[in-house]
Amino acid sequence: MKMLGVILLMMTTAAAAHAAVTLADWGKLPDGSTVTIYTLKSPKVEVRVMTFGARVVSIKTPDKNGKMADVVLGYDNLQGYIKDNKTYFGVVPGRYANRVANGKFSLDGKEYQLSVNEGTNTLHGGKEGFDRRNWKDKEVPGGVEFTLVSPDADQGFPGTLTAHVRYTLQGDRIAIHYSATTDKPTVVNLTNHAYFNLSGAGSGTILDEKLTIYSDKMTPVDSKLIPTGELKPVAGTPFDFTKPETIGARINGDDEQLKLGRGYDHNWVLNGKMGTLHPAARVYDPASGRVLTEETTEPGVQFYTGNFLDGSFSGPNGKYDFRTGLCLETQHYPDSPNHPTFPSTELKPGQTYSSETTWTFTVEK
Ligand code: GLA
Repeated sequence: MKMLGVILLMMTTAAAAHAAVTLADWGKLPDGSTVTIYTLKSPKVEVRVMTFGARVVSIKTPDKNGKMADVVLGYDNLQGYIKDNKTYFGVVPGRYANRVANGKFSLDGKEYQLSVNEGTNTLHGGKEGFDRRNWKDKEVPGGVEFTLVSPDADQGFPGTLTAHVRYTLQGDRIAIHYSATTDKPTVVNLTNHAYFNLSGAGSGTILDEKLTIYSDKMTPVDSKLIPTGELKPVAGTPFDFTKPETIGARINGDDEQLKLGRGYDHNWVLNGKMGTLHPAARVYDPASGRVLTEETTEPGVQFYTGNFLDGSFSGPNGKYDFRTGLCLETQHYPDSPNHPTFPSTELKPGQTYSSETTWTFTVEK
């Protein structure tokens, strides 16, 4: 009897820990399909995600005085997202997040030509990447699972890829789980492209926020932002975030890599073990006291300081200007299909791609 009581108590506690989930129609895309928006609400955090691009729309968290603000860049209506095909706010880029050089790679002796959309590169999966698709949705405990079937030859990628992205919220922690299967050998690299501003979206730059990246090496790039293949120690360079550093402190320094990226737009090689959750990054905002802790099973993280934001898009709280948001895109390294020395992004029939990233929101007084 006593045992049953304990079990029941454990079950109710577990159930209570799941966020409350509600859903609503959020409008229609030009193709007539309906976009559904989900709200996940815990006592600490409120997250909204939608089917268009499987994207994060807003994340409201308290500051050190308990005042709530949205800490990711975005829009308050679907039209804003339809018009903006440049920033990738909150999306799940795919089938290959970040760049593939010349939009080309070979698999089993066959060369594939992808849709090219950034000079000679394929960026975030090509012209009609996963960010422009209206994913299918299914409510799950504490969250939602989005599904997309990407047909064989979609944007030039081989194989029918069935991808799932599951967002769940428990307390102050958002978990994003990605999985995918294929019917022909292919490559896959999924992430989330949320732009954080811990002082609140639209409140100014992210240059005063303090960052830690749990990494001793990064992958330097060429003038097209394609990795050269080198794994370069960060020690003694502006890329050393092994201890908390103010993001703006060295960003305009005389450094070739910073010039090529117009700031930070690089992949760091994480110290933790790929395949198990390990620390990726931590951001602390002295103004609000908000802290974001990111963990991942991925081997890398792209730290991007919003260097392409130029004020041409605005959200409910103001313009999205140069460096007013930062991304911490957990991933396999850019252009891995063309770098046999990098961890492989190949997925074969019968295998399941599986990846997880978590964001935890706390405050420090
Ligand atoms: C990634 C890239 C950046 C930029 C953004 C989208 O973070 O690395 O160079 O393309 O996506 O603007």
